[in-house]
Amino acid sequence: MAQIPPGSIPARTHPSARARRALSLLTAGVLAAAGVVALAGNAQAVGALGDAAAAKGRYFGTAVAANHLGEAAYASTLNAQFDSVTPENEMKWDALESTRDSFSFAAADRIVGHAQSKGMKVRGHTLVWHSQLPGWVGGLGATDLRSAMNNHITQVMTHYKGEIHSWDVVNEAYQDGSSGARRSSPFQDKLGNGFIEEAFRTARTVDADAKLCYNDYNTDGRNAKSNAVYDMVKDFKQRGVPIDCVGFQSHFNSNSPVPSDFQANLQRFADLGVDVQITELDIEGSGSAQAANYTKVVNACLAVTRCTGITVWGVTDKYSWRSSGTPLLFDGDYNKKPAYDAVLAALGGSSGGGGDGGGTGACTATYTQTSTWNGGYNGQVTVKAGGSAITNWTVPVTVPSPQKVSAVWNGTPSTSGDVMTVRPTWNGSLAAGSSTTFGFTVTTNGGTSAPAVGACTAS
Ligand code: XIL
Repeated sequence: MAQIPPGSIPARTHPSARARRALSLLTAGVLAAAGVVALAGNAQAVGALGDAAAAKGRYFGTAVAANHLGEAAYASTLNAQFDSVTPENEMKWDALESTRDSFSFAAADRIVGHAQSKGMKVRGHTLVWHSQLPGWVGGLGATDLRSAMNNHITQVMTHYKGEIHSWDVVNEAYQDGSSGARRSSPFQDKLGNGFIEEAFRTARTVDADAKLCYNDYNTDGRNAKSNAVYDMVKDFKQRGVPIDCVGFQSHFNSNSPVPSDFQANLQRFADLGVDVQITELDIEGSGSAQAANYTKVVNACLAVTRCTGITVWGVTDKYSWRSSGTPLLFDGDYNKKPAYDAVLAALGGSSGGGGDGGGTGACTATYTQTSTWNGGYNGQVTVKAGGSAITNWTVPVTVPSPQKVSAVWNGTPSTSGDVMTVRPTWNGSLAAGSSTTFGFTVTTNGGTSAPAVGACTAS
């Protein structure tokens, strides 16, 4: 994805979906010119959790941090499992507009570009929130703040128009505890109760196709806070204020367990005529207790027709915002945890059983850089059969633009955009547990990211 200079006007300089497709074709053309077979191939990732959820008419996503995308195991686990991503921090106000009217989209664009190259959806998080808000916003008077809020929504949603399936328009506007009151924030304190409605109305005028969500935590069961949000959504629906969905963050631990009325609470919101989404799921713990809690959450979503998807708040425990609570589906080495198997089973899928963090279980793909020089490097992927013999394998390798693959050996590539799908030349048949390698040469053109090697699949 092209670097967007801070301060540029987003609607003009951001490559549109069409421009991105043209770029992909260009990349494919360069590959062809470099002697690499470039066919319009099927290079979409196959996401195990995403596929299982899709079979139930839902998505299964994860929060993603742009700075980890270059880590091969992170990218391959992401690519092998999920069909939706939420930028963990990169679309927050402080990341996008730290200085008034000067927008920096590069990191968020990297996530969106990655998602698009893998056929994943993107959740937008978040437009109006009291936290991760630059100081200049809090310093504005009411009139200025109103125009800054509407401008922020407009610029950001315009930049990503057509590329986001759901936006968290307003995040965490209510207090914890028994008051059911609004939380103090620059928006609440200076614009009053009407700021949420205004934000949603502005959002609808910018991107009529994105689902517009209100998102919060400690609203997962029935309580004073969720009652207050419920009353707001009901009022919005009655008065025609545009709202399409409510996000339930679902950060759980022993002090804040999965509520017994979680499903009933999701259902009462759905009955107001909005979709519900589980937007930031993580559950501290380990082993079968953690797995059982994940099962409860997945089952609750599946039982509510309008629960359209689940997002976990990160790929691996090692990068979780609550890392010490090991709340996610993959451990720090990208091994699948019991919670992973439980989620896949609840979604109706079956586990590949391996601890490889990706793939079908029939084979694994491991990347190493074998040599490097000024302007290029050679990479090697080891393809290893699992517990059974295989006769054919497929490994997707993403070499992020502006880097280009100039040669491939011991493998047959087909390329779509930045994704090169490699199949065997002579080396398709592998006995159980045995391996082969393929290699490739990359010209970096100034790019620094490591290639992302996706899950190996086999037949
Ligand atoms: C968290 C991120 O995970 C951290 O990396 C960051 O330091 C703080 O924010 N509610 C939200 C998320 O809506 O944006 C928060 O994400 C977690 C709580």
